[in-house]
Amino acid sequence: MNAPIADRVQRSFSRSFRSYHDAASQQAKIADHLVQAMRKGGAPHRFATGLELGCGTGHLSQRLCRTFDIGQLTVNDLSPEAAETAISIGAGFLCGNAETVEWPFQLNLIASASMIQWLHDPAAFLQRAANALVPGGWLAVSGFGPNQYRELVKVGSTAKAPGLCPSRDLAAAVEGQMEVVSCGESTSVVHFDSPRGVLKHLRRTGVNGRAQKVWTKSSLAQFSDQYVWHFGTEFGVSLTYNPTWIVARKPG
Ligand SMILES: C[S@@+](CC[C@H](N)C(=O)[O-])C[C@H]1O[C@@H](n2cnc3c(N)ncnc32)[C@H](O)[C@@H]1O
Repeated sequence: MNAPIADRVQRSFSRSFRSYHDAASQQAKIADHLVQAMRKGGAPHRFATGLELGCGTGHLSQRLCRTFDIGQLTVNDLSPEAAETAISIGAGFLCGNAETVEWPFQLNLIASASMIQWLHDPAAFLQRAANALVPGGWLAVSGFGPNQYRELVKVGSTAKAPGLCPSRDLAAAVEGQMEVVSCGESTSVVHFDSPRGVLKHLRRTGVNGRAQKVWTKSSLAQFSDQYVWHFGTEFGVSLTYNPTWIVARKPG
């Protein structure tokens, strides 16, 4: 992620910090799924050290702390507001770009939910994580696939995240270094009363960090007409989520 994009993403998430937690119900489900996949995959109850990247308001952080005993946990985010998340779970806070900040050493767990789609090279991030883990360490990461917000792409929005990739790319990134315990993707379609409702949802969840668009009355009307034309249903207009995930273990 280059610096200007990181700045925009940071500002967007900082602005939405207060509304994010309740609005991000899909991200909450994804965090649940990641922790369940770790448990079902035989993750140990205790990790001596852990690092979570892009913790935000703590959907994953809280679930990790409820489910596992993590001796020394550090959580990271671009947005300084996320220091509150660290305080609420008694973790250390590392503010900055997950791609460039120095990570703690000797990590037993590296986790991240719904963040890697903001990186230009999610595979390089996963490789760095695989290298940073001690033998026997665990990796649990989710992102989003190419169908994420497909409706917005169709109607020409620039809000698309740069690092959308299919789950097979996540597995390929750690191939040869880690044993994949669980890897996959799913699709879930949510509905809103109107295209304006979609825009409000995006604002509340901070995902419009790359949209430089300034709406005018006519561009908003055109966006709404096209959205309803292509994606209007009897339940309202649709918005597609395409979460992807990988849980992997570094051989001991
Ligand atoms: C969609 S939220 C996910 C938050 C939380 N992990 C969850 O599951 O709800 C994405 C978070 O990643 C952070 N983020 C985006 N790009 C980042 C980067 N390059 N380094 C660190 N954090 C980043 C944002 O500030 C935001 O808090």
